[in-house]
Amino acid sequence: MRMASGVLREALIDVDAIAENVRHLRRLTGVEVIAVVKAEGYGHGAASRGRRAAPRWREPYSASPTSTKRSPCGAEESARRSSRGCTLPVRRSPRPSARTSSSGSPTSTSCCVRGDAAQGDRPAAVHLKIETGLSRNGIAPADWRVVFSEAARLERIGRLRVVGLFSHLSNTSEADDRAALARFEEGVVLAAAAGLNPPLRHIAATHAAIALPEARLNAVRIGIGIYGISPFDDRSSADLGLRPAMTLRGAVAAVRRVPAGTGVSYGYAYRTETDTTLALVPLGYADGVPRQASGRGPVTINGRRFTVAGRIAMDQFVVDVGDHPVAVGDEAVLFGDPTLGVPSARDWADAADTIDYEIVTRIGARVPRREVGA
Ligand SMILES: Cc1ncc(COP(=O)(O)O)c(C=O)c1O
Repeated sequence: MRMASGVLREALIDVDAIAENVRHLRRLTGVEVIAVVKAEGYGHGAASRGRRAAPRWREPYSASPTSTKRSPCGAEESARRSSRGCTLPVRRSPRPSARTSSSGSPTSTSCCVRGDAAQGDRPAAVHLKIETGLSRNGIAPADWRVVFSEAARLERIGRLRVVGLFSHLSNTSEADDRAALARFEEGVVLAAAAGLNPPLRHIAATHAAIALPEARLNAVRIGIGIYGISPFDDRSSADLGLRPAMTLRGAVAAVRRVPAGTGVSYGYAYRTETDTTLALVPLGYADGVPRQASGRGPVTINGRRFTVAGRIAMDQFVVDVGDHPVAVGDEAVLFGDPTLGVPSARDWADAADTIDYEIVTRIGARVPRREVGA
């Protein structure tokens, strides 16, 4: 297959696949799906993907049921987000407890819980994140009581609206996730006792949303699943009824016939065994193609699967295509939907000894994203 002339490299984003994945996950879980679009929509391009994934998408920051999960911000930024009708995640205690190492600096947490994010008559809508065992950034259990009662007070005076209570699982084992869930339920009870009844309670990301039905509560926060990638080691996207949305491809930039024994790319980590044809693909580690996958990453060109020959360089790599007919401008697919006969992001993750989350989110800004689908 030929690439359009003038296109060196691109990531095709199948917006129908994203919409279908969201519908599928909604049906499967039976609860509200909050689409996670951080890291530019896991590398897929945040705004347009979010709009497709979430009927209630708001720009430039999202509102439930889409979550940008951006970094903590100051009071001014919180107020700006709030004034746009966004819901804000509140992750840390307003004041550091003796048992936490929170800095107490004006993060989104402190300004929201103080109610600074409210704009005029409009209370800031927030999701409170509580720590249940991941040891990252939820409100520490020791602070639950004080934060909940302050949040309830701010609700009563119209400064805050707690629309969600949430946490995040470690996916270490089912037993660990169940223990975190039990801690979360304690948080729900304490919040209710303080007078908070957030309509949304969510703890499950893609893994638990599929594997641990009791963790679905009344909403799930799905990232990788909406982009059609499986979070399981032993279950593919197709096993889960999901379709990968991103296809990364480049146009063969040069072909060269070389004799046996020709060294290829830096360090001659690969030498041709016979007379053969080398095809140059204009994608490299500057585009997010992992150098660790040198000599291992798979590529499909004109219906045949090859392996990267030698080292992946900054802007390009070489494929030994043997006698397979390949011409300049032919499409080289690094990954996409494997049911269509191309490698998967998981294949690249395996080749680079990482996870497919990293493969898709690292695709660089100079690779244009082009939407395909309805
Ligand atoms: C707090 C939180 N929720 C949800 C997600 C989505 O996870 P997944 O992509 O596995 O669905 C993430 C991902 O990093 C996260 O940090």
